[in-house]
Amino acid sequence: MKPFGIDGQKLRMIHEREMRHFTDMIPKSIDLGKRAGKSQPNAVPMAWMAGLYEHPPMYVTQGDGAYFDDVDGNRYLDMNQADLAAALGFAPPAITDALAARAAKGSSFLLPTEDGIVATELLAERSGLPFWQFTGSASASNAEIIRLARVATGRNILVMFEGKYHGHLDDTLVADEGGEIVAEGIGLAKGALEGARVIPFNDLDALEAALAPGDVACVMAEPMLTNTNIVFPDDGFWAEVRRMTRENGVLLLMDEAHTNAFAYGGLTRLWSIEPDLQTLGKGLGSGFPFGAYGMSEELAAISERHLDRDRTGGLMIGGTTYASALGMAVARVSLETCLTEHAYADNAERGEQLGVGLEAIFRERGFEWRAPRIGGRSGWILSADLPRTASEAAFSLYPDFTTAKRLFMLTHGVWEAISSAGPAASFSHTAADVELYLDVSAAFLDEAMA
Ligand SMILES: Cc1ncc(COP(=O)(O)O)c(C=O)c1O
Repeated sequence: MKPFGIDGQKLRMIHEREMRHFTDMIPKSIDLGKRAGKSQPNAVPMAWMAGLYEHPPMYVTQGDGAYFDDVDGNRYLDMNQADLAAALGFAPPAITDALAARAAKGSSFLLPTEDGIVATELLAERSGLPFWQFTGSASASNAEIIRLARVATGRNILVMFEGKYHGHLDDTLVADEGGEIVAEGIGLAKGALEGARVIPFNDLDALEAALAPGDVACVMAEPMLTNTNIVFPDDGFWAEVRRMTRENGVLLLMDEAHTNAFAYGGLTRLWSIEPDLQTLGKGLGSGFPFGAYGMSEELAAISERHLDRDRTGGLMIGGTTYASALGMAVARVSLETCLTEHAYADNAERGEQLGVGLEAIFRERGFEWRAPRIGGRSGWILSADLPRTASEAAFSLYPDFTTAKRLFMLTHGVWEAISSAGPAASFSHTAADVELYLDVSAAFLDEAMA
């Protein structure tokens, strides 16, 4: 079988060969993994570190800029940056300085600091949403804004789009299978399936049908799909979604956990989407673990009206370590110093170089494939037409292809951790770093076609 003109058997051969090569490269990591298995299920401190990769994980020693090193002395160019949690690159000096300075004065007080005001002022100015709260992650932000939306509308149903990922919470870990809502995994509360509708992206008729019963609290979406390869909205899609949600008294929740890294103020600002609520996460690009969410004045008023006083029936939001002094110091410096218009413009240049370079490599080898780009992010689209839905995008995530590519890159010093969510140039990538990725991409294709 030759999917996309490449022999599946050849891809599996590359996979097996590179897997052997890689395990030979990481003897110390393999030994650490054996030790970890005695105190950690799946030999990792967090399940995804085993579940996301088919090879044993390498143990990291340090990262700087676009690269990190492992305990065996291997160095990797990172094209996924912990799924964009470290989109600024590793150890940006402004962030490490702010962390050290704040940690020396106390990290967490369960009381506010002035840094938090500067951060929310900057977020309000950039996003257009006037009020902001902080949490521990994008998942936690989404859990809170869904609650807020349900309280604000008095309705229960959450509408999402196929191919979405909004974090590990019961409300969003559901999918539509032939018209029936099913859990994406086990361990969810029984009632979780009753609160959701999942419709195809870019499908306004499906949205109209989903809103028709009048029971929808909110539509939650990324401005574009970024977790199932890369899918752009149709022209005018968001304007129409906004019109329909407003007409139906439904709130629009934009999840910019990934896409905030793609444009100054996020894609909601770039595309004038005007959501009621907006999620940020992934440490706003810095790698420090926290999330945030913005809201309209009306929703802030509801949050104030229902302030919970130690579980006396108010709106259940908040967490002990959320908005810590440490987190607020990082948020402030990240926004003030790192996430500047200038830095976004530089990063978009790297993204353009990445996309244009990939398309040239495809063309030179006779493939009419595409590499759309936004900010520093691109993707391998193994067809001439850009996907409009998650199922069209899934065509480019053929497992034999993505696995062989990832392992080949790994043994050639390039780490593309999650094929469905990359590649992306971080804010630290130079033009030479992107060239290196392109060279290894070309070498992989030559090998796969040989
Ligand atoms: C769009 C989106 N929302 C939410 C999340 C959840 O982020 P976290 O795992 O940091 O809570 C992710 C993670 O990939 C994401 O891509």
